[in-house]
Amino acid sequence: MVAVTQLPSFVDLTNFSFLADHCLDPSLNTKASLETSFLQMKGLAKEMYESPPKIIRSANGGFSYPANPEVLAYLVEQVRGKVFLEIAGGFGYHGLFLALAGAQKVYMNDSAPEAIAVFDREKACLRPEILARIETIAGDAFELLTKNPNLKADVILCRNFIHFLTDAEQARLIDMMKKILNPGGTVIFTANGAYDSDSREIHKTDPSKTCFVLEQARFLSKETDICLASTTSLCPGEFTPRQTQKTQVYRREEGGSWGQLPTPDLSPQIFDKIKKWVGENKPILKQHKSGRIQNSKNEVRLYTKQTLADLLTQHGFSVSTTFVTDAKGHNVPEGEDPYLRGKQTGAIATFHAAAASAAVVEEPAEGAAAAAAP
Ligand SMILES: C[S@@+](CC[C@H](N)C(=O)[O-])C[C@H]1O[C@@H](n2cnc3c(N)ncnc32)[C@H](O)[C@@H]1O
Repeated sequence: MVAVTQLPSFVDLTNFSFLADHCLDPSLNTKASLETSFLQMKGLAKEMYESPPKIIRSANGGFSYPANPEVLAYLVEQVRGKVFLEIAGGFGYHGLFLALAGAQKVYMNDSAPEAIAVFDREKACLRPEILARIETIAGDAFELLTKNPNLKADVILCRNFIHFLTDAEQARLIDMMKKILNPGGTVIFTANGAYDSDSREIHKTDPSKTCFVLEQARFLSKETDICLASTTSLCPGEFTPRQTQKTQVYRREEGGSWGQLPTPDLSPQIFDKIKKWVGENKPILKQHKSGRIQNSKNEVRLYTKQTLADLLTQHGFSVSTTFVTDAKGHNVPEGEDPYLRGKQTGAIATFHAAAASAAVVEEPAEGAAAAAAP
């Protein structure tokens, strides 16, 4: 029987008495340094809380999304006196926050030099006692154990990374995490959610699907960059992530007229949406001396709570909770339809090596998945 993890229903990181009373570890701080730590925690909370997505400039960067404050509050409880590792952690604010909250050791990994530079700069501002607890592990997540064979952690966070990976890469990453985890350790995964209306239609007939084609049309000019249409469809063949195909649909050179370009690769749904937008927004187009409408298409995993729980269960984890977050990073309350405003989906799971090998012999994995996922 897996214990269900209760996440707080709403956490406000701008409520500074919450930070002072709940998050800051008083045993780590002398009276004199408590205020400095508190100010640093406040600064980090501001960066992470309900913040707009920040772009991470690198080949596989993507965006850094706001923290889920409810999960962060749960993590504070989990990591005090324990070892925390974040994989593909972007700018690494979670690790810095959790070091101030009393983690015994924090490891932060990412492969993007820009993200690591931000993390190292922020880290250097911490007091030496806190700084000594933090270690940057720059580079490929898949090489974490090869390069650090003794790496061990009690809690591993992996936000918004696995949806870029193929089945084989996911299996390799999860196997590596199982080796890093101390017995009974916890993982927290988040991934892009499948909570738009197109994927709802797909999941009505195919609830186990995770591989999707995302198409987005953007209007790009010197002044604006807005998403004007998007569609989600099922991935037709083998899943090939991390290859974005970009097509120009309309273009206007400085002061000329808007010209439609040949659009051989567009799906009819998105082409219709773009045409409709162009028809309805002629005044907006006229205001821009130059610009373009571009369609980008890529393949990505999109998870529901159930499909993410299934992935972890298949790899021997016991899932204790699943959650969906909104655009600001907060949990969408249980009972509310996630298709209304769900963005990311997440799961908390533990790994007990002995239980996982027993499960392989007795084969109860599917029933366990169904029981574990709310
Ligand atoms: C969508 S961002 C998510 C960042 C962060 N976890 C968050 O949620 O804000 C994906 C991150 O994965 C990192 N990344 C991509 N490939 C990686 C790899 N092979 N090893 C480590 N990090 C990687 C990128 O640099 C980027 O920071």
